[in-house]
Amino acid sequence: MCAVPTDLSTSTSSDTDLAAEERALASEYAALQERGLKLDLTRGKPSPEQLDLSNGLEKALDGADLASGGADARNYGGLDGLPAARRLGADLLGVDAAEVIAGGNASLTFMYQYLLNAWLNGPLGPETAWRRETAQPRFLCVVPGYDRHFTITESLGFEMLNVRMLDSGPDMDEVERLVAGDSSIKGIWCVPKYQNPTGHTFTDDTVRRLARLGSIAGPNFRIMWDNAYAVHDLYDDPPVLLDLMECCRAEGTADSAVMFASTSKITRAGAGVAFMAASPGNLAQFRKHLGVQTIGPDKVNQLRHVNFLRDIDGIRALMRRHAAIMRPKFERVLSFLDAGLAGRAQWTRPRGGYFISVDVAPGTAREVVRLAAGAGVKLTPAGATFPYGRDPDDANIRLAPSYATLDEIDQAMPVFVIAVRLAAVRRRQHR
Ligand SMILES: Cc1ncc(COP(=O)(O)O)c(C=O)c1O
Repeated sequence: MCAVPTDLSTSTSSDTDLAAEERALASEYAALQERGLKLDLTRGKPSPEQLDLSNGLEKALDGADLASGGADARNYGGLDGLPAARRLGADLLGVDAAEVIAGGNASLTFMYQYLLNAWLNGPLGPETAWRRETAQPRFLCVVPGYDRHFTITESLGFEMLNVRMLDSGPDMDEVERLVAGDSSIKGIWCVPKYQNPTGHTFTDDTVRRLARLGSIAGPNFRIMWDNAYAVHDLYDDPPVLLDLMECCRAEGTADSAVMFASTSKITRAGAGVAFMAASPGNLAQFRKHLGVQTIGPDKVNQLRHVNFLRDIDGIRALMRRHAAIMRPKFERVLSFLDAGLAGRAQWTRPRGGYFISVDVAPGTAREVVRLAAGAGVKLTPAGATFPYGRDPDDANIRLAPSYATLDEIDQAMPVFVIAVRLAAVRRRQHR
């Protein structure tokens, strides 16, 4: 995302002009309040219409032999998941099936488990345990970013360091500078395709530089590569993400890449299949930890998904149907931003994923969220896209167009636009 501008006003205005603008906006805002809206743009969830696309899951086991396919799906065991499910995950993540574990319903659980295991037991065995290396581990957090990543590292006691998300991906100059000078930095959170919330995809150069981090930071550094939006394209000419695992192999740093994905936003949110991919050494150590917690994943659900999705072509066909529902919503939100906020805020134009990131006038994001709520439109809390909920510029707001209907977007976006403008003009008045 572009650097936050210091002043988003289009022109310098006199006190009288500002007062007139404030009065006009305040009266528009009051009129919107009278509509008694009750709308929500916070939810990065698939809409019911999208979930309906996977209702075929219900019938995907009709007549199926649950005991075929390499393991009896009805019974205990198979810690790595069904072979066919692992192949599906391998296609999603662009790796080899042998590098994949197919798990339960949430990739976030894998991420939490991986980091906990690395801290307690070591990413590659007890002698590599992070707790032996430092009393105060640190983690790089790309901002704006995904709040649940930050909650994981916060809950495990990591100190989180912000690194700016640029249009090309994380600010790699800053990442390299930080890891070179601080061995307590144990990893970095990345959402490489259609990043949450900017929607940007990491460039080839960024991926190559990330692959080199293992040589700079040491063998126990980990890139948490959360490819949650790997196939969530809105258009037919998607950006192509360079293969991190291959780049790491070329650099001799394959242990540094730990990859995640799930079918949460392909089939059912929180009721799909999660995947984790990593080097043989990482997986061997992780399995020991995983095997303490479970005898094996829900293989019946995995089989249901394999029968329903079949392969990567089946996934892509389904994702085109998702895109047909999502694209008009993204475009509608963008058309309101273009019409109402040009020169007054900055926003991204994602080609996929689930979010649009808006930078409003610095120092006003919290006020924008408060004003919008006052007119019945709930927005993601300002600061949520930063570790500890603290946006140093108080500027970033994440919009989630997926769950609202087009009609709801048409009602909610004028409120957002007026809230952004009103908060900005009031701030300029009080400067
Ligand atoms: C970047 C990212 N990762 C992971 C998730 C959640 O994935 P899962 O449902 O597999 O835990 C989300 C959900 O919004 C997300 O945006």
